[in-house]
Amino acid sequence: MSLIQWIDFQSLGDKRGQLVAIDIGKEREVPFDIKRIYYIYHTAEDVSRGFHAHKKLKQVAICISGSCRMVLDDGCTRESIVMNSPAKGLLIESMIWREMRDFSDDCVLLVLASERYDESDYIRNYADFIKAKR
Ligand code: TYD
Repeated sequence: MSLIQWIDFQSLGDKRGQLVAIDIGKEREVPFDIKRIYYIYHTAEDVSRGFHAHKKLKQVAICISGSCRMVLDDGCTRESIVMNSPAKGLLIESMIWREMRDFSDDCVLLVLASERYDESDYIRNYADFIKAKR
């Protein structure tokens, strides 16, 4: 199975423009209860972020403005994709190493998270990640 799992949000467009609504509840598109939302923006030139995996946390990342590149790695394969659609969410499961780079000046990366912030859930060393995957 590909590491790249997109969730297509319905974009409610009309002549005024576009609108995406993410309903939490019955017919939810995000496959977990959202406990935290954060966003990354005004990223300095040539900066790469991430370089960690989460033991438990699942996330959906949505590039709501501009573009960036997301690299996902499950310890066996590494896949890289450009994120540039405000109507597509990228599902990132637990125990997936992620790196983000090539942020455009106007990039806003919105992240929906299944848990509150918990530093003990992070694996920040790639060798430790590979060891934990075994
Ligand atoms: P960091 O983990 O370095 O971001 P990334 O690895 O995704 O590029 O996070 C930057 C800082 O923000 C760090 O001090 C931790 C803090 N932080 C929170 O307090 N809450 C959060 O939900 C997140 C994602 C980060």
